[in-house]
Amino acid sequence: MPKIVRNPRIRDNIRIVDYNLYFNGTPERQTELMDWYERGEVIVLSNYRFDAGRKVIANTSFPNGTKKLRLHSAGLNHLDAPREREWGEVRQILNNDEAKVAEFEAAVAAANAELIRLVDGLFPRYRYTKRLCIYNLTEMLAINLHFDSPQHADISTQVRAFVNMDNFPRIWHVGQSLEEVVRDFYDEAGAAKLEGGHPRAFTRAMTQAAFGDRFESGARPWPRHSIAFRPGEVWFVYPNVTAHEVIYGRRLLDAVFMFEQDDLLNKERYLPTLVERFHAERRKATPNPE
Ligand SMILES: [Fe+2]
Repeated sequence: MPKIVRNPRIRDNIRIVDYNLYFNGTPERQTELMDWYERGEVIVLSNYRFDAGRKVIANTSFPNGTKKLRLHSAGLNHLDAPREREWGEVRQILNNDEAKVAEFEAAVAAANAELIRLVDGLFPRYRYTKRLCIYNLTEMLAINLHFDSPQHADISTQVRAFVNMDNFPRIWHVGQSLEEVVRDFYDEAGAAKLEGGHPRAFTRAMTQAAFGDRFESGARPWPRHSIAFRPGEVWFVYPNVTAHEVIYGRRLLDAVFMFEQDDLLNKERYLPTLVERFHAERRKATPNPE
């Protein structure tokens, strides 16, 4: 179980979900989980610990500045081939030590297989077009509150799972929803002029107006929950619609399992559709100038 300090001044959007009830769960449980996820709740698994490959990966560090690496394994259902360039970077980081490379590759293959099993078993009704397994084994500190603003936000959506692969907690802050922030910051963000643009421009503008840039961690008096995710803990969050911040963390395995808008339980939770709705609501609320 994670260590959580819930801030009573904001809505409680953290949900602890029992792996034994929801993995290969009934259709009702599947629906519940999809609904919570799509609404932006932080879903943390209880009665589960991710151990596949973790011993080796927790002993591997990427130098600071290393980009996140998409490390896919041959023979697994990633729907995306292993990338020679990214594996080449791993070999370089491990000084081309054959034994170390082989050990790391085996750990990654075990972790990827387990992550695919887990996400497919918890969210079996999304038809994935890609199952990306992304490794960030660098040390992260004070990434300010933000909404994720991915390039692909205008063409597909995703299940996003996070695994703490370290032997030390990963510490996050979780803030409010995009809706709540839009209500307070739409005008300040100058959002009206972004109508019709890429939805990432909208989430970026909201992040900037509400929380400031990457370096303003803790600088603004925003209420937030604090969570320390234990080693081997797994959580899910739709990061485009829930503000979150990495306070500290070292080794993360990050799943981005892509799927199409049509597979959403609540189709209006698709980011481009949400953003259109925010603009439309604002137009309705603002009287036409005489
Ligand atoms: Fe993020």
